Amino acid sequence: MKIRLLLAALLGSITFFALPVSAAGDAPIIEELMRKYTFPLIFLQLLMAVLTVGYLYVSGTLPRVLLATWNWFDERFALHRYASLAKREYYSVVFTLLPSSGRTMPQSHTERYNVKSVWYWYPFYSLGGLSFFAYIILVITGIYLGFYYVPDGEITFDEDGHATSGSYQSMELIMTKVAFGYIMRAIHHWAAHFMVAAVFLHMMRVYFVGAYRNPREVNWILGVILLLVTIFFGYTGYLLPWDALGYAAAAIGLEMATSIPAMGPLMAQIVFGGTQVTADTVTRMYWLHIFVLPLVGTVLMIIHMALVWIQGEAEPH
Ligand code: HEM
Repeated sequence: MKIRLLLAALLGSITFFALPVSAAGDAPIIEELMRKYTFPLIFLQLLMAVLTVGYLYVSGTLPRVLLATWNWFDERFALHRYASLAKREYYSVVFTLLPSSGRTMPQSHTERYNVKSVWYWYPFYSLGGLSFFAYIILVITGIYLGFYYVPDGEITFDEDGHATSGSYQSMELIMTKVAFGYIMRAIHHWAAHFMVAAVFLHMMRVYFVGAYRNPREVNWILGVILLLVTIFFGYTGYLLPWDALGYAAAAIGLEMATSIPAMGPLMAQIVFGGTQVTADTVTRMYWLHIFVLPLVGTVLMIIHMALVWIQGEAEPH
């Protein structure tokens, strides 16, 4: 057991230290390496992470660690009581409210065939979990970027006459000077792309196996809101560096919002902080990106996944 843990720790540390490169942000050779090989390096790191988790799983360490963690919390907070209570209540409420149906919740595929982990049999069923995984990565890397990013959209001109801003300068700092800054931004960027794709494919999976049907309509609707949240996450984040692309995207979004009849200007005011692109636009996008959307998104994801836990996976139709 000890040797296994040691091996896992070794694999894990290679995973982490495979990329200490940006730690020496001001060393030009390393900067150059980072710039050239960002994508293969991220791939390497992800591969090592998958190998580590895979190894922990195969060696049986992961379930043991998870079980020990659950036990630790369960002994202190009697979690099992709430877990089984919630499940029992849910089933009995459905039966009491709909006695004519003569049945409780339909048995899930997992229950019927006593399948331990559904995704193991149906890879597409892992897409929701992968979306959540990407979200966790985004939260962690986002917190790191948040230590250095400055939401200052006031346009000024440097000595060469180039337009710049506090936001843009803070991004330059992250990319060139901050330890791990380059890789953190790169991971944040790619995880965002990954999440949008995973959420969309997850929705397709749910649609094509008919998992949106009774009794899972609420989860479908929550899912639609989560898709919008994911897209808005992407949009608001895209504007934050306040480079030419971000500025242009702000102008396009603002035009789209103001062109809505009657409600347009009010919506632009709420979302963009005005009907013109100004420094306030960045402040507004920043607050949406780092507070409002994470709050709404996290709460909805928890409810969404709690419902899956309560209702079980739908059987493919
Ligand atoms: C942030 C985005 C989302 C996350 C983190 C998420 C997470 C999950 C997870 C972990 C599951 C368990 C089964 C699986 O992984 O396939 C699930 C199931 C489900 N999701 Fe999502 N989801 C998201 C977005 C969506 C969207 C956009 C829709 C549809 C519009 C949706 C509708 C559903 C439904 C109906 C189920 C139940 C499926 C079944 O029982 O087979 N979700 N979700």
